[in-house]
Amino acid sequence: MLILAVPICLVAALVFHEWQAWRTREWVHEQRRVASFQYAGEPALQERLHLRATENRRLKAAFGLDNSLTTKNPSAHKAFLATASRILNGNRSWEQLYAVAEGFLKGELEIAAENSKSTLRLAESVRCMVLAVVLFDSFGVDPVATPRSHLVTITDEINKQWLQSKCHPDNVIPSQGLNETVASLSITSPEHTPLPPPQVLSILMPQYETLWRVVLLTFVTAYHHQPAACHDTIQRTAAVPSCLGNPALEKDALKLAKEGLRLYPSNKHLYRSRNPTPNSPTSPATSSPPAAADLSALHRHPSIWGRDALAFRPSRFDDGQLTALQHEAYIPFSVKPHKCPAAGNAFGERMVAVLVVALGRELGPGNGRADFGEGVVKGWRWGEEGGIEDGKG
Ligand code: HEM
Repeated sequence: MLILAVPICLVAALVFHEWQAWRTREWVHEQRRVASFQYAGEPALQERLHLRATENRRLKAAFGLDNSLTTKNPSAHKAFLATASRILNGNRSWEQLYAVAEGFLKGELEIAAENSKSTLRLAESVRCMVLAVVLFDSFGVDPVATPRSHLVTITDEINKQWLQSKCHPDNVIPSQGLNETVASLSITSPEHTPLPPPQVLSILMPQYETLWRVVLLTFVTAYHHQPAACHDTIQRTAAVPSCLGNPALEKDALKLAKEGLRLYPSNKHLYRSRNPTPNSPTSPATSSPPAAADLSALHRHPSIWGRDALAFRPSRFDDGQLTALQHEAYIPFSVKPHKCPAAGNAFGERMVAVLVVALGRELGPGNGRADFGEGVVKGWRWGEEGGIEDGKG
């Protein structure tokens, strides 16, 4: 009997292990089915837009957005994709974008020094820096001529509206302060027609709102929170910004962005309605809860990513290192047929890399210390007379 018990236990353990692996794979596929809309069968474009727009109606109400993420109209969706594609495929200099980010951060340090402050409010600085770079890249808004107070108002108002719309998806109203400040930037289309604020925000939000959190959290993690990651990060990104745009040279730097987008995906969940019929008698407020693809869980699940799932380790993305299941589970830009167009030419990853590296060089551990309780970076290279101080900030 004892002789038989050992192999039986081994087989049982193997079967259990296989069953667990199967369950994890099935769960990954289920999340992907929500992201790709297959959970609703094989819906046509109009139906897919409806399923997504229903869940994003709060963004339409809060910001007046009329873009691919909020429209139910296939023509409007295609027109917006064309606008996005024009922006994404336009000529740009990554050196210039780096210079805008760097210039903004240097300005922040100068303001702190003028006010004899040795701390920066990190989230505010990062939000304004990201906004300044996106405004410059998408609309040619001159960062030097844009008052900092405008950047603060726009980013604060976006944040307030975002939170309001989460709490009251059907009752949020547009912010006059946001619209007036956006209008004061006098943004025009490529044909020089003035763009009303909702149109500006429709183009701005898919970029700004997806970038600022991942940039902030990747910077804090890579340069301050996980000291083991810092040296590797500095080495991998040594050639930023000149390497960006050159697929042969930028691979290592982009792994910083890939790992940031793994741990801190811009969309933690992708929500889709479970009420497919446009003329459904049930109102959105009383209908079934939405289907959700849980990107955070896909990107952090220890059964998929291993025991160090929460560690910041860009080398996971070194050639041949990802398992087949990790490939499937990693979807920061969603999946076809509505995969983000910023994934295709690595625009999203390049933006994350350029912004995080600018932060790392200006506010990295050589120049300051992140204080997580207060959400600030304390510096010993700025703010105090006499330059480098005692390191306590
Ligand atoms: C790191 C940066 C970015 C991330 C992580 C990101 C992520 C995503 C995700 C997850 C979706 C799918 C949303 C859903 O189906 O519910 C999406 C869609 C989309 N994104 Fe992005 N995005 C980024 C930057 C951008 C930029 C820079 C643009 C345009 C200039 C853009 C334009 C769009 C558009 C138009 C769609 C809709 C695509 C479609 O429905 O076919 N995104 N993005």
